[in-house]
Amino acid sequence: MDAKTPRQSDEANEREKEKLCSKIGQLQMEVEFLKKKLESFRAKNPPIVFHLWDGYNQYLYYDESIILKQLSYYPFIQLGLISVFILIAYIAFSNFRKAEENQVWVGLSKETAHQLGTPISSLMAWVELIKSEDKPNPALLTEMSKDVERLKMVAERFSKIGSKPDLETNNLTDILSEAVGYIKTRASKKVQVQTHFSTDDFIPVALNVALFEWVIENLCKNAFDAMEAKGELNISVLHVKDEVHIDIQDNGKGIAKTRQKTIFNPGYTTKKRGWGLGLSLAKRIIENYHNGKIFVKQSEVNKGTTFRITLPVQQA
Ligand SMILES: Nc1ncnc2c1ncn2[C@@H]1O[C@H](COP(=O)(O)OP(=O)(O)OP(=O)(O)O)[C@@H](O)[C@H]1O
Ligand SMILES: [Mg+2]
Repeated sequence: MDAKTPRQSDEANEREKEKLCSKIGQLQMEVEFLKKKLESFRAKNPPIVFHLWDGYNQYLYYDESIILKQLSYYPFIQLGLISVFILIAYIAFSNFRKAEENQVWVGLSKETAHQLGTPISSLMAWVELIKSEDKPNPALLTEMSKDVERLKMVAERFSKIGSKPDLETNNLTDILSEAVGYIKTRASKKVQVQTHFSTDDFIPVALNVALFEWVIENLCKNAFDAMEAKGELNISVLHVKDEVHIDIQDNGKGIAKTRQKTIFNPGYTTKKRGWGLGLSLAKRIIENYHNGKIFVKQSEVNKGTTFRITLPVQQA
Protein backbone atom coordinates (compact mmCIF):
# COMPACT_ATOMS: atom_id res chain seq x y z
CA MET A 1 0.00 0.00 0.00
CA ASP A 2 1.08 3.45 -0.82
CA ALA A 3 1.06 5.60 2.30
CA LYS A 4 1.19 9.37 1.83
CA THR A 5 3.10 11.60 4.14
CA PRO A 6 1.06 14.52 5.68
CA ARG A 7 2.96 16.95 3.44
CA GLN A 8 2.05 15.00 0.28
CA SER A 9 -1.64 14.85 1.22
CA ASP A 10 -1.64 18.64 1.86
CA GLU A 11 -0.24 19.24 -1.65
CA ALA A 12 -2.89 16.91 -3.19
CA ASN A 13 -5.63 18.76 -1.33
CA GLU A 14 -4.24 22.07 -2.54
CA ARG A 15 -4.27 20.86 -6.22
CA GLU A 16 -7.79 19.53 -5.81
CA LYS A 17 -8.88 22.92 -4.44
CA GLU A 18 -7.27 24.78 -7.36
CA LYS A 19 -9.03 22.48 -9.85
CA LEU A 20 -12.36 23.05 -8.14
CA CYS A 21 -11.80 26.83 -8.10
CA SER A 22 -11.03 26.92 -11.83
CA LYS A 23 -14.11 24.76 -12.56
CA ILE A 24 -16.26 27.13 -10.49
CA GLY A 25 -14.76 30.11 -12.34
CA GLN A 26 -15.52 28.46 -15.68
CA LEU A 27 -19.07 27.69 -14.60
CA GLN A 28 -19.55 31.29 -13.47
CA MET A 29 -18.39 32.50 -16.86
CA GLU A 30 -20.76 30.13 -18.62
CA VAL A 31 -23.62 31.30 -16.42
CA GLU A 32 -22.69 34.94 -17.22
CA PHE A 33 -22.60 34.09 -20.93
CA LEU A 34 -26.00 32.37 -20.77
CA LYS A 35 -27.46 35.29 -18.82
CA LYS A 36 -26.23 37.74 -21.44
CA LYS A 37 -27.58 35.56 -24.27
CA LEU A 38 -30.91 35.30 -22.50
CA GLU A 39 -31.01 39.09 -22.10
CA SER A 40 -30.23 39.62 -25.79
CA PHE A 41 -32.84 37.00 -26.83
CA ARG A 42 -35.38 38.62 -24.56
CA ALA A 43 -34.62 42.05 -26.02
CA LYS A 44 -35.07 40.79 -29.59
CA ASN A 45 -38.06 38.43 -29.42
CA PRO A 46 -40.74 37.79 -26.83
CA PRO A 47 -40.42 34.25 -25.45
CA ILE A 48 -42.69 31.40 -26.53
CA VAL A 49 -44.66 30.31 -23.47
CA PHE A 50 -45.46 26.65 -22.93
CA HIS A 51 -48.26 26.17 -20.40
CA LEU A 52 -47.51 23.05 -18.45
CA TRP A 53 -49.57 21.81 -15.55
CA ASP A 54 -50.70 23.44 -12.33
CA GLY A 55 -49.92 26.92 -13.57
CA TYR A 56 -46.38 25.96 -14.46
CA ASN A 57 -45.00 27.74 -17.49
CA GLN A 58 -41.92 27.14 -19.53
CA TYR A 59 -40.37 29.96 -21.59
CA LEU A 60 -38.45 29.47 -24.77
CA TYR A 61 -36.16 32.37 -25.65
CA TYR A 62 -34.82 32.38 -29.16
CA ASP A 63 -32.91 34.34 -31.81
CA GLU A 64 -32.11 33.84 -35.48
CA SER A 65 -29.33 31.39 -36.28
CA ILE A 66 -25.99 32.68 -37.62
CA ILE A 67 -26.65 31.12 -41.07
CA LEU A 68 -30.03 32.83 -41.26
CA LYS A 69 -28.38 36.15 -40.36
CA GLN A 70 -25.73 35.62 -43.04
CA LEU A 71 -28.45 34.70 -45.54
CA SER A 72 -30.23 37.99 -44.86
CA TYR A 73 -27.16 39.80 -46.29
CA TYR A 74 -27.28 37.62 -49.41
CA PRO A 75 -29.78 39.75 -51.44
CA PHE A 76 -27.65 42.86 -50.76
CA ILE A 77 -24.50 41.06 -51.93
CA GLN A 78 -26.40 39.88 -55.01
CA LEU A 79 -27.69 43.41 -55.65
CA GLY A 80 -24.15 44.75 -55.29
CA LEU A 81 -22.83 42.21 -57.79
CA ILE A 82 -25.62 43.01 -60.26
CA SER A 83 -24.85 46.75 -59.91
CA VAL A 84 -21.16 46.07 -60.61
CA PHE A 85 -22.11 44.11 -63.74
CA ILE A 86 -24.47 46.89 -64.87
CA LEU A 87 -21.69 49.44 -64.31
CA ILE A 88 -19.23 47.35 -66.34
CA ALA A 89 -21.83 46.93 -69.12
CA TYR A 90 -22.53 50.69 -69.09
CA ILE A 91 -18.82 51.56 -69.31
CA ALA A 92 -18.36 49.05 -72.15
CA PHE A 93 -21.43 50.45 -73.95
CA SER A 94 -20.35 54.09 -73.61
CA ASN A 95 -16.85 53.20 -74.83
CA PHE A 96 -18.47 51.47 -77.80
CA ARG A 97 -20.59 54.59 -78.45
CA LYS A 98 -17.49 56.79 -78.26
CA ALA A 99 -15.66 54.54 -80.72
CA GLU A 100 -18.71 54.70 -83.01
CA GLU A 101 -18.84 58.52 -82.74
CA ASN A 102 -15.13 58.73 -83.52
CA GLN A 103 -15.70 56.56 -86.56
CA VAL A 104 -18.49 58.90 -87.67
CA TRP A 105 -16.31 61.98 -87.32
CA VAL A 106 -13.44 60.32 -89.19
CA GLY A 107 -15.95 59.31 -91.87
CA LEU A 108 -17.39 62.81 -92.06
CA SER A 109 -14.00 64.42 -92.55
CA LYS A 110 -13.09 61.81 -95.18
CA GLU A 111 -16.41 62.49 -96.89
CA THR A 112 -15.66 66.25 -96.84
CA ALA A 113 -12.26 65.63 -98.37
CA HIS A 114 -13.83 63.30 -100.95
CA GLN A 115 -16.57 65.79 -101.88
CA LEU A 116 -14.07 68.64 -102.16
CA GLY A 117 -11.60 66.49 -104.08
CA THR A 118 -13.68 66.13 -107.27
CA PRO A 119 -14.27 69.83 -108.05
CA ILE A 120 -10.76 70.79 -106.90
CA SER A 121 -9.00 68.33 -109.23
CA SER A 122 -11.36 69.35 -112.00
CA LEU A 123 -10.51 73.05 -111.40
CA MET A 124 -6.81 72.23 -111.49
CA ALA A 125 -7.25 70.54 -114.86
CA TRP A 126 -9.16 73.57 -116.24
CA VAL A 127 -6.38 75.90 -115.06
CA GLU A 128 -3.78 73.77 -116.85
CA LEU A 129 -5.91 73.85 -120.01
CA ILE A 130 -6.29 77.63 -119.85
CA LYS A 131 -2.54 78.00 -119.39
CA SER A 132 -1.90 75.95 -122.51
CA GLU A 133 -4.25 78.09 -124.62
CA ASP A 134 -3.39 81.46 -126.14
CA LYS A 135 -6.85 82.87 -125.69
CA PRO A 136 -8.97 81.58 -122.77
CA ASN A 137 -11.88 79.55 -124.06
CA PRO A 138 -15.20 80.85 -122.62
CA ALA A 139 -16.48 77.24 -122.38
CA LEU A 140 -13.65 76.44 -119.97
CA LEU A 141 -14.56 79.43 -117.83
CA THR A 142 -18.14 78.16 -117.67
CA GLU A 143 -16.95 74.75 -116.49
CA MET A 144 -14.71 76.39 -113.92
CA SER A 145 -17.48 78.49 -112.51
CA LYS A 146 -19.63 75.33 -112.26
CA ASP A 147 -16.92 73.69 -110.16
CA VAL A 148 -16.58 76.77 -107.98
CA GLU A 149 -20.35 76.64 -107.44
CA ARG A 150 -20.03 72.99 -106.48
CA LEU A 151 -17.28 73.83 -103.99
CA LYS A 152 -19.44 76.53 -102.46
CA MET A 153 -22.30 74.07 -102.14
CA VAL A 154 -20.15 71.40 -100.46
CA ALA A 155 -18.89 73.97 -97.94
CA GLU A 156 -22.48 75.08 -97.33
CA ARG A 157 -23.66 71.50 -96.76
CA PHE A 158 -21.05 70.74 -94.14
CA SER A 159 -21.51 74.10 -92.41
CA LYS A 160 -25.21 73.32 -91.96
CA ILE A 161 -24.74 70.00 -90.16
CA GLY A 162 -24.99 70.53 -86.42
CA SER A 163 -27.07 73.72 -86.35
CA LYS A 164 -30.70 74.03 -87.38
CA PRO A 165 -30.66 75.16 -91.02
CA ASP A 166 -33.04 77.73 -92.53
CA LEU A 167 -35.88 76.33 -94.63
CA GLU A 168 -37.39 78.12 -97.60
CA THR A 169 -40.55 77.26 -99.46
CA ASN A 170 -39.59 75.85 -102.85
CA ASN A 171 -41.28 73.91 -105.60
CA LEU A 172 -40.21 70.37 -104.74
CA THR A 173 -40.32 69.16 -108.35
CA ASP A 174 -37.91 71.95 -109.44
CA ILE A 175 -35.35 71.10 -106.75
CA LEU A 176 -35.69 67.36 -107.36
CA SER A 177 -35.25 67.81 -111.09
CA GLU A 178 -32.05 69.85 -110.51
CA ALA A 179 -30.63 67.24 -108.12
CA VAL A 180 -31.49 64.37 -110.46
CA GLY A 181 -30.04 66.28 -113.42
CA TYR A 182 -26.70 66.57 -111.62
CA ILE A 183 -26.72 62.86 -110.71
CA LYS A 184 -27.67 61.80 -114.26
CA THR A 185 -24.54 63.42 -115.73
CA ARG A 186 -22.36 61.45 -113.30
CA ALA A 187 -24.11 58.07 -113.58
CA SER A 188 -22.75 55.23 -115.65
CA LYS A 189 -24.23 55.01 -119.17
CA LYS A 190 -25.60 51.59 -118.26
CA VAL A 191 -27.91 53.08 -115.64
CA GLN A 192 -31.24 54.38 -116.86
CA VAL A 193 -32.51 57.20 -114.67
CA GLN A 194 -36.26 57.68 -115.12
CA THR A 195 -38.21 60.48 -113.50
CA HIS A 196 -41.96 60.24 -112.97
CA PHE A 197 -42.86 63.84 -112.18
CA SER A 198 -43.12 67.14 -113.93
CA THR A 199 -41.81 70.53 -112.87
CA ASP A 200 -45.23 71.84 -113.91
CA ASP A 201 -46.66 70.22 -110.78
CA PHE A 202 -46.20 72.89 -108.16
CA ILE A 203 -45.67 71.26 -104.75
CA PRO A 204 -44.60 73.85 -102.16
CA VAL A 205 -42.31 72.32 -99.54
CA ALA A 206 -40.16 74.00 -96.86
CA LEU A 207 -36.66 72.91 -97.81
CA ASN A 208 -33.05 73.59 -97.22
CA VAL A 209 -31.99 73.02 -100.80
CA ALA A 210 -28.30 72.23 -100.16
CA LEU A 211 -29.16 69.55 -97.58
CA PHE A 212 -32.14 68.11 -99.45
CA GLU A 213 -30.07 67.68 -102.61
CA TRP A 214 -27.44 65.93 -100.51
CA VAL A 215 -30.07 63.40 -99.38
CA ILE A 216 -31.18 62.72 -102.96
CA GLU A 217 -27.55 62.32 -104.07
CA ASN A 218 -26.84 59.88 -101.23
CA LEU A 219 -29.89 57.76 -102.04
CA CYS A 220 -29.08 57.72 -105.75
CA LYS A 221 -25.41 56.90 -105.12
CA ASN A 222 -26.48 53.98 -102.92
CA ALA A 223 -28.86 52.80 -105.64
CA PHE A 224 -26.06 52.92 -108.26
CA ASP A 225 -23.80 50.91 -105.90
CA ALA A 226 -26.58 48.38 -105.31
CA MET A 227 -27.10 47.94 -109.06
CA GLU A 228 -23.34 47.71 -109.61
CA ALA A 229 -23.54 50.55 -112.12
CA LYS A 230 -26.09 48.74 -114.31
CA GLY A 231 -29.87 48.86 -114.04
CA GLU A 232 -32.81 51.19 -113.75
CA LEU A 233 -33.42 53.97 -111.25
CA ASN A 234 -36.96 55.35 -110.97
CA ILE A 235 -37.72 58.53 -109.12
CA SER A 236 -41.38 59.33 -108.56
CA VAL A 237 -43.35 61.95 -106.69
CA LEU A 238 -46.77 61.39 -105.16
CA HIS A 239 -48.73 64.29 -103.70
CA VAL A 240 -51.29 62.99 -101.19
CA LYS A 241 -53.31 65.60 -99.25
CA ASP A 242 -50.83 67.56 -97.08
CA GLU A 243 -47.92 65.21 -97.71
CA VAL A 244 -45.62 64.42 -100.58
CA HIS A 245 -43.90 61.08 -101.08
CA ILE A 246 -40.67 60.80 -103.04
CA ASP A 247 -39.90 57.22 -104.03
CA ILE A 248 -36.43 56.21 -105.19
CA GLN A 249 -36.56 52.75 -106.63
CA ASP A 250 -33.70 50.62 -107.92
CA ASN A 251 -33.43 47.07 -109.20
CA GLY A 252 -30.23 46.31 -107.33
CA LYS A 253 -29.23 43.69 -104.78
CA GLY A 254 -31.92 44.57 -102.23
CA ILE A 255 -31.80 44.68 -98.43
CA ALA A 256 -32.76 41.79 -96.12
CA LYS A 257 -35.74 42.56 -93.84
CA THR A 258 -33.61 42.28 -90.70
CA ARG A 259 -31.28 45.04 -91.97
CA GLN A 260 -33.87 47.55 -93.14
CA LYS A 261 -33.65 49.60 -89.90
CA THR A 262 -29.95 48.97 -89.12
CA ILE A 263 -28.83 50.55 -92.39
CA PHE A 264 -29.72 53.97 -90.93
CA ASN A 265 -27.29 53.56 -88.02
CA PRO A 266 -24.13 55.66 -88.35
CA GLY A 267 -21.17 53.50 -89.27
CA TYR A 268 -23.23 50.65 -90.77
CA THR A 269 -21.83 49.73 -94.16
CA THR A 270 -21.38 46.64 -96.30
CA LYS A 271 -19.02 48.41 -98.71
CA LYS A 272 -15.26 48.15 -98.78
CA ARG A 273 -14.84 51.90 -99.10
CA GLY A 274 -18.05 52.94 -97.38
CA TRP A 275 -18.34 54.93 -94.15
CA GLY A 276 -21.95 54.13 -93.40
CA LEU A 277 -22.73 57.83 -93.24
CA GLY A 278 -25.01 58.48 -96.22
CA LEU A 279 -28.23 57.12 -94.76
CA SER A 280 -27.66 58.34 -91.20
CA LEU A 281 -27.08 61.85 -92.56
CA ALA A 282 -30.14 61.53 -94.80
CA LYS A 283 -32.25 60.49 -91.78
CA ARG A 284 -30.95 63.39 -89.72
CA ILE A 285 -31.60 65.87 -92.52
CA ILE A 286 -35.10 64.63 -93.33
CA GLU A 287 -36.38 63.88 -89.83
CA ASN A 288 -34.63 66.47 -87.64
CA TYR A 289 -34.43 69.38 -90.06
CA HIS A 290 -37.41 68.88 -92.39
CA ASN A 291 -39.92 67.24 -90.09
CA GLY A 292 -40.31 64.37 -92.55
CA LYS A 293 -39.73 60.62 -92.66
CA ILE A 294 -37.35 58.36 -94.54
CA PHE A 295 -37.60 54.60 -94.61
CA VAL A 296 -37.31 51.48 -96.76
CA LYS A 297 -40.73 51.21 -98.36
CA GLN A 298 -40.07 47.91 -100.01
CA SER A 299 -37.07 45.71 -100.67
CA GLU A 300 -36.39 42.20 -101.86
CA VAL A 301 -32.98 40.58 -101.98
CA ASN A 302 -31.64 40.43 -105.57
CA LYS A 303 -34.73 42.25 -106.88
CA GLY A 304 -34.41 45.83 -105.70
CA THR A 305 -35.25 48.47 -103.16
CA THR A 306 -37.55 51.46 -102.84
CA PHE A 307 -36.68 54.20 -100.37
CA ARG A 308 -39.44 56.64 -99.48
CA ILE A 309 -39.09 60.20 -98.24
CA THR A 310 -42.23 61.84 -96.89
CA LEU A 311 -42.34 65.61 -96.42
CA PRO A 312 -45.10 67.96 -95.26
CA VAL A 313 -46.54 70.15 -98.02
CA GLN A 314 -46.95 73.87 -97.26
CA GLN A 315 -50.47 75.29 -97.37
CA ALA A 316 -51.02 77.63 -100.33
N1 LIG B 1 -30.44 51.01 -102.47
C1 LIG B 1 -29.80 50.13 -101.71
N2 LIG B 1 -29.78 48.81 -102.04
C2 LIG B 1 -29.16 47.91 -101.26
N3 LIG B 1 -28.48 48.21 -100.12
C3 LIG B 1 -28.46 49.49 -99.75
C4 LIG B 1 -29.09 50.52 -100.51
N4 LIG B 1 -28.90 51.70 -99.86
C5 LIG B 1 -28.16 51.42 -98.79
N5 LIG B 1 -27.88 50.11 -98.70
C6 LIG B 1 -27.11 49.43 -97.63
O1 LIG B 1 -27.05 50.31 -96.53
C7 LIG B 1 -25.70 50.52 -96.13
C8 LIG B 1 -25.54 51.89 -95.52
O2 LIG B 1 -25.69 52.90 -96.50
P1 LIG B 1 -25.02 54.32 -96.27
O3 LIG B 1 -25.33 55.18 -97.43
O4 LIG B 1 -25.41 54.82 -94.92
O5 LIG B 1 -23.47 53.99 -96.19
P2 LIG B 1 -22.50 53.53 -97.37
O6 LIG B 1 -23.14 53.80 -98.70
O7 LIG B 1 -22.09 52.15 -97.09
O8 LIG B 1 -21.25 54.49 -97.15
P3 LIG B 1 -21.19 56.08 -97.42
O9 LIG B 1 -22.54 56.53 -97.87
O10 LIG B 1 -20.83 56.67 -96.10
O11 LIG B 1 -20.14 56.26 -98.45
C9 LIG B 1 -24.89 50.27 -97.38
O12 LIG B 1 -23.56 49.89 -97.09
C10 LIG B 1 -25.68 49.14 -98.06
O13 LIG B 1 -25.35 47.89 -97.51
MG1 LIG C 1 -24.04 55.68 -99.14
